[in-house]
Amino acid sequence: MQKMWSGRFSTQTSSLLDQFNASIMFDRKLYAEDIEGSVAHARMLCAQGILNSDELNQIETGMAQVREEIASDRFEWRIGDEDLHMAIEKRLTEIIGEAGKKLHTARSRNDQVAVDFRRFVLRKNSELILQLKALIQVLIDLAKPHTHTLLPGMTHLQHAQPINFAFHLMAYAAMFKRDIERFESSHKRNNFSPLGCAALAGTPHNIDRSMTAQELGFESVSINCLDTVSDRDFALEILFNISTMMMHISRMAEELVLWSSYEFRFVELSDAYSTGSSIMPQKKNPDVPELLRGKTGRVFGNLIGLLTVMKGLPLAYNKDTQEDKEGVFDSVETAQISLEILKEALSTMTIKPQYMYQACKVGHLSATDLADYLVQHCGIPFREAHHITGRAVAKAETMGIDLSDMDFETLHVIDERIRKNVLDYLSIEHSMNARTSEGGTATLRTMEQIIYFENYLKD
Ligand code: ARG
Repeated sequence: MQKMWSGRFSTQTSSLLDQFNASIMFDRKLYAEDIEGSVAHARMLCAQGILNSDELNQIETGMAQVREEIASDRFEWRIGDEDLHMAIEKRLTEIIGEAGKKLHTARSRNDQVAVDFRRFVLRKNSELILQLKALIQVLIDLAKPHTHTLLPGMTHLQHAQPINFAFHLMAYAAMFKRDIERFESSHKRNNFSPLGCAALAGTPHNIDRSMTAQELGFESVSINCLDTVSDRDFALEILFNISTMMMHISRMAEELVLWSSYEFRFVELSDAYSTGSSIMPQKKNPDVPELLRGKTGRVFGNLIGLLTVMKGLPLAYNKDTQEDKEGVFDSVETAQISLEILKEALSTMTIKPQYMYQACKVGHLSATDLADYLVQHCGIPFREAHHITGRAVAKAETMGIDLSDMDFETLHVIDERIRKNVLDYLSIEHSMNARTSEGGTATLRTMEQIIYFENYLKD
């Protein structure tokens, strides 16, 4: 098969080279972007008098046919065509003849791939933003009935202070909101057109880059062609943004794994999103959150992979850059299915407030409240209050009870300045609702947070 660039070559390329060099097996995913880019380019060439309107017509009709052939799986992808750009141009020329050969005027595959891939990534940024918003909505719906549902807040995975379940969920809403903002800012930063940069230095043809930029939905044209054809920051950014998002998902997944264990029993995943064991008939395994946690590893790998590809490249385009696509495709696909299944798993799981409450009754969660009481009601300096509370906790331990269940007499013996109203301060409910500072867990503060995220989704 003759290569498009074979003019200066005297022998055929080896088939091993063809296999090694080709990207057509994976870059065909960009076919819609590639065809749209070509049509925009042809329209601009016509507007500038470089193509006549008859040629443009033929290119448009021919491209519509190519698109249809690919969409209906009738297109013949051949490894010898190297990449989708050449495969599509070649097929176009087969269909329309001479006019097809003029399409590549004032263009190179270097700006062509840059425009295709950039548009793909920008589109995926927008899709991920919508999916993240849908996930936040699920968290809000889950949270609303649980602003009074107590569970132990933890540090070091040890019982720390009581919080409510909605407050815990809104912590994740905050993370996912930041993720959205990262996708948005990356979208804005990278929303410019590479088309017209040609191989690296621009072109002597009288082109109109703004016209193609506008037609393809870009905000503006790129500033420096040498940079543009070798710039893959947009790809690195989506890989990083997906990595951070998956890191958040993975943290939530870890909690779901813990929470669905017999040790916690805070939630039960629906049967539709759980799996069984091939040997132990009683088992119900949280494969979904486990895989979410596990898949985070591969998206981190894709990020490090591309950073490493890019780090030593001299300007401008180098074939190394062809390695940019598979990792991005993989991370995007992983992120999209992960967001979808997490949303489903969350909205179908059963919440078990009774076990959350039970867990609040071990570990003396209201110890800080006793110390705060001693400061606020008995005028005791915090350090001393801390010490007295420590003694109360030790006493509770020897009695085999939780501090929240200690009787007044026992407390009074520990420190006689303690008055009977202390009992109001020791309950788990009180402890949670006492944390009324901005952003705190008190039910009213949690409700504010829910409203905040609801309003955010409305904008
Ligand atoms: N398949 C190539 C890639 O994905 C397209 C650009 C090729 N350019 C070149 N000068 N060989 O990067």
